[in-house]
Amino acid sequence: MAGAWSPSSWRDKPVKQLPNYPDQAALEAVEKELSGMPPLVFAGEARKLKKALSDVSHGNAFLLQGGDCAESFAEFGPNKIRDTFRVLLQMAVVMTYGGSMPIVKLGRIAGQFSKPRSSDTETIGDLTLPSYRGDNINSIEFTEEARMPDPQRLLKGYNQASSTLNLIRAFAHGGYADLKRVHGWNLEFIDDNPLKERYEDMAERINDALRFMAACGVTSDNVSALRRTNFYTSHEALHLPYEEALTRQDSITGDYYDTSAHFLWVGARTHQEDHAQIEFIRGIQNPLGLKCSPALEPDELMRLIDTLNPENESGRLTLIARMGAGNVEDKLSPLVRKVKEEGRNVVWSCDPMHGNTYKSSTGYKTRQFDNILSEVREFFTVHKTEGTHPGGIHIEMTGQDVTECVGGAYKLDDEDLSSRYHTACDPRLNANQALELAFLVADELKAIRGDDVTSVLVDAAAE
Ligand code: PEP
Ligand code: CO
Repeated sequence: MAGAWSPSSWRDKPVKQLPNYPDQAALEAVEKELSGMPPLVFAGEARKLKKALSDVSHGNAFLLQGGDCAESFAEFGPNKIRDTFRVLLQMAVVMTYGGSMPIVKLGRIAGQFSKPRSSDTETIGDLTLPSYRGDNINSIEFTEEARMPDPQRLLKGYNQASSTLNLIRAFAHGGYADLKRVHGWNLEFIDDNPLKERYEDMAERINDALRFMAACGVTSDNVSALRRTNFYTSHEALHLPYEEALTRQDSITGDYYDTSAHFLWVGARTHQEDHAQIEFIRGIQNPLGLKCSPALEPDELMRLIDTLNPENESGRLTLIARMGAGNVEDKLSPLVRKVKEEGRNVVWSCDPMHGNTYKSSTGYKTRQFDNILSEVREFFTVHKTEGTHPGGIHIEMTGQDVTECVGGAYKLDDEDLSSRYHTACDPRLNANQALELAFLVADELKAIRGDDVTSVLVDAAAE
């Protein structure tokens, strides 16, 4: 892409999915205020995540990215943050144990407040109002006042992101993530959980290993990797005035980083190569994500890769495929093949959520858990066929016991959806469904490692 980049160069490009603020001066005042606020994350942390993603791109680690579709101001609270963190930790430990691979933990959290919508307006009865675009922009209630975009909400979003991140940092570094607690994380499971036995069996084996290591003098008191974890944040780079205001020049390297999160991605509706969102993210040095939908052609993807990762750095770009169950072989294989042929370093991740959304017979936006599992399996199969690394998963989930996706071990059906349907946007996996998915991924990773071990033995035997 031609032209010099600056944090504001996106303003010269066509832009989609930004709200129409009635008062531009009020928006500008908020942008100015945000640009004086402290960064939420540091450049060094973003570089550390990029290094971890580079390990993923080389097949030596796996990425777990998850959290709400849209965070909400109303649902904000310490228990909710703790529960999401705990389930991501549980999922990660299941995958680390099953796959014998480090798991890179990346939350859709502490800033995931802006949503793209398929229509600018929503009509109920005779009333047509602006669509709900996320709590950073307007409010979900269907009234004229609530739906009016209000720039003051950006400041509230910043503050909520800041306190969320503060608690996450405490959980990650202050003892909650200590592997000794792997049983403790489980205590909050409801007793009839069908996965309880499998989880406890794994926790017991981990404890055995920890006891053995302690006998050898290795404990969480003297090895920090057992006591703490690295946990990173991410959200969609959609609301560019907010992202620009938090973009700062790193004093060490002189590079620009968007300090609103460690990782930013561009969604399926805004990745046009000559548009504003792509222009914005190409110039920040954070690791980036790009959603790949079934409509994306291999040549278009190559041009986007040229723009977003011109130096072909590993860890810079994660391609998040959201093809829908049944579509993966057809739609993902040509992209994977092309990227491999052209020798591009990317992380391939699977979003099994956004291609599998439909309306239930009871009127709720939902997803079938079986379709989610199928898409993940298909993703692993494609990478096995193409000889590439299935690098990660990207999911919408919560630590709460919600009823938003049907299926899973508790066999939720359409009739159950109304009971605890709390999402501000898309339907999320609940804690049990998320853990069930983690066990599937662990099995897939184990199978790959099994193959690796076999091929090492075969190679050794051949020599
Ligand atoms: C999302 O991740 O919430 C989203 C809107 O996804 P996509 O851009 O892939 O539709
Ligand atoms: Co979503």
